[in-house]
Amino acid sequence: MDGTTERVRAHFDAIGETEWDRLADSPRARVSFELHRRLLAEWIKPGDAVLEVGAGPGRFTIELARLGAQVTVTDLSSVQLDLNEQHVQHAGYQDAVAARFVLDIRDVAQLGEETFDAVIAYGGPLSYVFEDAPVAFGQLVRVVRPGGIVLASVMATVGSLRYFLPLALNELDQYGGVFYDHIVATGDLRDIPGSHTCQMYRWREIELLIAPAPCRLVAASASNCMSLGDADLIERLEADPERWRWFVDWEAALCREPGALDGGTHTIFAVQRTEIPAP
Ligand SMILES: C[S@@+](CC[C@H](N)C(=O)[O-])C[C@H]1O[C@@H](n2cnc3c(N)ncnc32)[C@H](O)[C@@H]1O
Repeated sequence: MDGTTERVRAHFDAIGETEWDRLADSPRARVSFELHRRLLAEWIKPGDAVLEVGAGPGRFTIELARLGAQVTVTDLSSVQLDLNEQHVQHAGYQDAVAARFVLDIRDVAQLGEETFDAVIAYGGPLSYVFEDAPVAFGQLVRVVRPGGIVLASVMATVGSLRYFLPLALNELDQYGGVFYDHIVATGDLRDIPGSHTCQMYRWREIELLIAPAPCRLVAASASNCMSLGDADLIERLEADPERWRWFVDWEAALCREPGALDGGTHTIFAVQRTEIPAP
């Protein structure tokens, strides 16, 4: 395992249960969860064989089980896989898990061509493999059958720099403008000491990632849009169930506008595998 991957694995081993809270500990986080969940509900059918890559502690494993999928659960971190087992068992869905094992997203091809109806790579596993992302993404597409779906989300450069501007300005002061120019231009956070080791993407970079694989884009969404705004206002909205329902529906619709795709802290996208032409 190279040094960067080891650093990522050690990070997810160390944060453990904190990762379970990531999509539940604020209204903005709960909206992000809901946007990801809605895309699962659109594309996953009862009985689907689903590979989950970078599954983490299991929020989406449980959602996949609720949708009737049989899930092969994988992650780089064995700590996250243990948490996944605990949370899925607690939710009563262990029967929906076909297998659970450590797997690097770069090694997915070993599971065989056309093995699954869908692959889910939510929460950025593709953001942790840097230069290897195109090869890893190609493998995700090839392990689904023709017509199958790959649903992924990655960290987003534009929206993250806007939302985390105070943090970015701190880092700018600490490391200097030339260094930070590089971060803004590339989205690569590897070289910032103590920062989250990951690759952020612009929408046009996601298009480049997808282009060589035998697939077509079928859905795309920012995560999030309006709910990244005034945190107090969003909290008050959530306290009013009727207004909250309207708000989340608007949010889901606006996040899919082409003009919004770069604006979240994450970007979600779904591709469908096309037939590979005979040689
Ligand atoms: C932010 S968490 C997302 C967890 C879950 N998918 C979710 O959305 O709640 C990212 C997960 O990707 C895993 N990961 C990081 N690098 C990976 C790699 N190279 N291969 C597979 N999984 C990886 C981490 O261990 C972690 O569990």
